[in-house]
Amino acid sequence: MSSVKVECVVKASAVIGEGPVWEESQQHLLFVDIAGQKIQRWDSVTNHTQSVETDDMVAFVVPRKSGGYVAGVGRSIVAVDWSTQKLTSLVDVDEDKPNNRFNDAKVDPIGRLFAGTMGREVRPTVVEKQQGSLFSVTSDLTVTKHLDQVDISNGLDWSLDQKTFFYIDSLSRTVDAFDYDSDTGSISNRRVIYRMEDGEGFPDGMTIDAEGRLWVACYNGGRVINIDPITGVRLQTVSLPVTKITSCCFGGVDYSDLYVTSASLGLNETEIKHQPLAGGVFRVTGLGVKGLPSNSFSG
Ligand code: BGC
Ligand code: CA
Repeated sequence: MSSVKVECVVKASAVIGEGPVWEESQQHLLFVDIAGQKIQRWDSVTNHTQSVETDDMVAFVVPRKSGGYVAGVGRSIVAVDWSTQKLTSLVDVDEDKPNNRFNDAKVDPIGRLFAGTMGREVRPTVVEKQQGSLFSVTSDLTVTKHLDQVDISNGLDWSLDQKTFFYIDSLSRTVDAFDYDSDTGSISNRRVIYRMEDGEGFPDGMTIDAEGRLWVACYNGGRVINIDPITGVRLQTVSLPVTKITSCCFGGVDYSDLYVTSASLGLNETEIKHQPLAGGVFRVTGLGVKGLPSNSFSG
């Protein structure tokens, strides 16, 4: 019955491919290469990829309401002007922790940017623990810290009614939920909604679909899993031909394709031989479910 198909649309494009965001107006997929220090933009119509280089690790990129993008570079949030390739620093976080860097981020339906940080990573998933935090940034660039003692701040998204915030600290190997107050942007009442099973690796990036279910990238698990956040039941598993799956978002003409990023960093020579597509971006079609447009940062 199922006609799920997986294809690699951008080949071995990244050391750590991350943070995919669909840009509906242009039918572009934005994503970053964290360790390769570049922001990438794949045009799904022409199949061309453009990039903007950054002078430090770039963890995320999101569209900005006033035009252009904002990205997380090192510990700074920067404005990105694509045409001039110019980056302008807007605000910094974790000034007291110079070894930290941003990791995953997402914009809430109001336009607030939620972005997390992590400590120095010796090798993939081996990190200085509890150094990270989760912040939000509002349109006037006010920064609020919501959580500290985070190991690897990763996937995040909101329920369709905006009353729940879903969050992943990868090393806990759980997907968590908080109550969300969309008027104030505050989070409370943390609980675990899913624990990774054997073989699923670490939970990394995630996205919500139009039916309110979560799609979670499984780093070292070679798959994306679909979870019902109400029951905590895993509904579906999509296998990919590479193990280090980092994040996903819906895109395509009607948001019915799932785009999935991956990493090659940390694979040895034999592993790379077995997964030559590591670091590529994949498109999963035929899932029978749609996603939602991404939000733009209001600042
Ligand atoms: C981070 C990587 C980390 C991986 C696994 C990614 O989001 O950027 O540095 O190794 O998650 O948790
Ligand atoms: Ca991630």
